[in-house]
Amino acid sequence: MSEYSREQRKPRVAVVFGGRSSEHAISCVTAANVLQAIDRDVYDVVPVGISTSGHWVLESGDPERLSITDGKLPEVDVTAMPVLFGANRELVVSEPGTVPSTLGEVDVVFPLLHGPWGEDGTIQGLLEMSDIRYVGSGVLSSAVGMDKHYMKVVFQAAGLEVGPYVVIRDRDWVRDAEACRKAVDELGYPVFVKPARGGSSLGISKVNSRDELDDAIVEARAHDPKVIVEASANDPREIEVGVLGGLDGGPAEVSVCGEVAVSGGGHDFYDFETKYLPEGEDYLALSVPADLPADVAADIRAKALTAFDAIEAEGLARVDFFLDADGRVVINEINTMPGFTPTSMFPRLWEESGIDYPTLVNRLLDLAMTRPTGLR
Ligand SMILES: Nc1ncnc2c1ncn2[C@@H]1O[C@H](COP(=O)(O)OP(=O)(O)O)[C@@H](O)[C@H]1O
Ligand SMILES: [Mg+2]
Repeated sequence: MSEYSREQRKPRVAVVFGGRSSEHAISCVTAANVLQAIDRDVYDVVPVGISTSGHWVLESGDPERLSITDGKLPEVDVTAMPVLFGANRELVVSEPGTVPSTLGEVDVVFPLLHGPWGEDGTIQGLLEMSDIRYVGSGVLSSAVGMDKHYMKVVFQAAGLEVGPYVVIRDRDWVRDAEACRKAVDELGYPVFVKPARGGSSLGISKVNSRDELDDAIVEARAHDPKVIVEASANDPREIEVGVLGGLDGGPAEVSVCGEVAVSGGGHDFYDFETKYLPEGEDYLALSVPADLPADVAADIRAKALTAFDAIEAEGLARVDFFLDADGRVVINEINTMPGFTPTSMFPRLWEESGIDYPTLVNRLLDLAMTRPTGLR
């Protein structure tokens, strides 16, 4: 494409959503909202779905089909036209038995994917290889931010307090399950058993005694052969903070603090149902801003920036903390592609900090457009 015609057209955004992880449906819901928020006077938009089996298609992006209706979770339309990224940043229709045809050059990708094969550096690597700009963190940062073990290693090195934990890799469990159980016993019950690279609370169990432990490990291993077991924080409040990459090379910005509180209905932690399903809403309270003394809020916000920089995140992240009964601030996790529906915590934190949903979406695209490709 000549420089002349490049100037004549709007930058093209491919919103990539769905994906192979168990958070496929949540990604679809997010995409429906982001697709509606992108300023069409500024950007051309191409919705690209990745099916649960990993096939890339040109999606309609129809917001109705991509929402949760009657408790039914949405999915990418696998019958849509297959596409892939070709040379020169072009999106190419790749129907078997037909001559490939191009849909044109993509200037920036919004990878709205949660979990493995999306939030973990894999699609970021693919885009780096193709020299395509994208929203959010790079390869290393995404990979570290996905892994609940390695993020703790990096956080600790940056001086942040993390809770005690044990890692159970596939080989540990297969070779000596009893040694794994003993290591967990040392933490003291209750413990939280988690897939190391999961999200949306899928595969997570709170375990109150050793006789519940094996079932929880088997459940976590169904999501990831690498499992992390954490000591339970002492009756914690859950405080979350949004971070946005700075414009024009400036410092990252941090939102107000928000609080998540779960109670009743048999939910003793922030599980999938309370996060996403309508029936969970009765047991969930999001407070933005969180009711915190000013010095505690300032400390948590500073720690969120430390965490963002520690993993060298870019663009956006949500950093989640436990404020325990003794007033200790323990970092739980960072999410490099946080939940992003208009009612999700991340957009609500920014709304309260003066940046509304469409502004947030378009700012993320502007940030990605001005970022150089290649090593940064
Ligand atoms: N160590 C812990 N102590 C107390 N509660 C925890 C702990 N780990 C997780 N939880 C509870 O489980 C929820 C989900 O865990 P989290 O590690 O944030 O996983 P996900 O990445 O799926 O969000 C948390 O929001 C919290 O309610
Ligand atoms: Mg979480």
